Amino acid sequence: MDAQTLKKLREWFKKNAAELPWRPADLDAPRDPYAVWISETMLQQTQVSTVRDYFIRWMKRFPNIETLAKASEEEVFRYWQGLGYYSRARNILKTAKQLVSDCHDPCKGSRNDKRGERKAALPSTRKELEALPGIGAYTAGAILSLAYHQREAILDGNLVRIFSRLYALDFLPTESRDAAEIYWNYAREVVDSPKAYMHNEALMELGRTVCKVKNPDCINCPLRSSCCAALENRTTEFPPSKKHIQKDWHGTVLVIESADHKILAVHGGQKFFKNQFTLPHFESPRNATAGLPAQAEHYIDADKVQSVENIGKFRHSITVHKMECYVLYIRLNGKAPAPTSSEIMWVKRGQAQDFFASSFCLKALSFLEKT
Ligand code: ADE
Repeated sequence: MDAQTLKKLREWFKKNAAELPWRPADLDAPRDPYAVWISETMLQQTQVSTVRDYFIRWMKRFPNIETLAKASEEEVFRYWQGLGYYSRARNILKTAKQLVSDCHDPCKGSRNDKRGERKAALPSTRKELEALPGIGAYTAGAILSLAYHQREAILDGNLVRIFSRLYALDFLPTESRDAAEIYWNYAREVVDSPKAYMHNEALMELGRTVCKVKNPDCINCPLRSSCCAALENRTTEFPPSKKHIQKDWHGTVLVIESADHKILAVHGGQKFFKNQFTLPHFESPRNATAGLPAQAEHYIDADKVQSVENIGKFRHSITVHKMECYVLYIRLNGKAPAPTSSEIMWVKRGQAQDFFASSFCLKALSFLEKT
């Protein structure tokens, strides 16, 4: 997200931030990490409107880690009753007890209060936070960002929905490591700024109130002018629903060999590997193509084909695509013709392993060795 878009987001948030019991009126003020921890844990799986009263009641009874650590599990559950997912409450209590005991351990970090007494505190590094019961990547990121004002990325359901629409991402971060990385990279872009904490919270608020699951209020969205889905009137398509995720790509890879033992390499116009020489490939039905596919005639003259043979099948993953590829070996009856464009090259068969560096091509070529 560029600096101008982020500025629009901040301005929108300053005007529209709802008054919430865990949100100070001064949006730039650092927050009590304990309050962030409790509110963000309550907000997982539960609506803001429900959490509001629970949070107020909780903070009155357990205003800090020490008070909480002294409570019984039974009492903590009573204050949680109705929020569901009781393991969250159990973990909060466990963590509070651990933080208090760590604070009396001279080897472990803790803060002194104004009177110089040791005080239990939430740690300020991701590693230490994520080592505590019930604190995962999201809660750790929220504490580091909203309370400690560190430039830490967070990715909750709101941000996923916004990024999916903003950049027309037709996959979910849960689909693969590469898919998650694409989302996290967008989340990191947002926090590459001294106002990282505000960007994170503004996006969560935007997701909750404007970029909603149903009926997004695009007219009032500060990101509208750079939102791919809104500009194309396709907000309902993003994020994709889990059952519509198109993961599989069935394709054919062509290993075309001339009589003088050269393999055809192509550049550009390919679904994958747009900027490098690769073996020609194209999407095709689940069954391997019988005969010479029309796509091969982009590169070779059908009259020069001696034989067409299915020589294998392999699986391969690129970004979010789980592919199943058939390898079609096409033998020509003449020497490699002079290339008609710079997008075509003939590579000596003995040098192909070095020339085609991608594992996608190497997998296809491995079948050639068996022919
Ligand atoms: N949802 C979860 N955490 C939130 C926050 N801090 N602000 C707005 N919506 C949220």
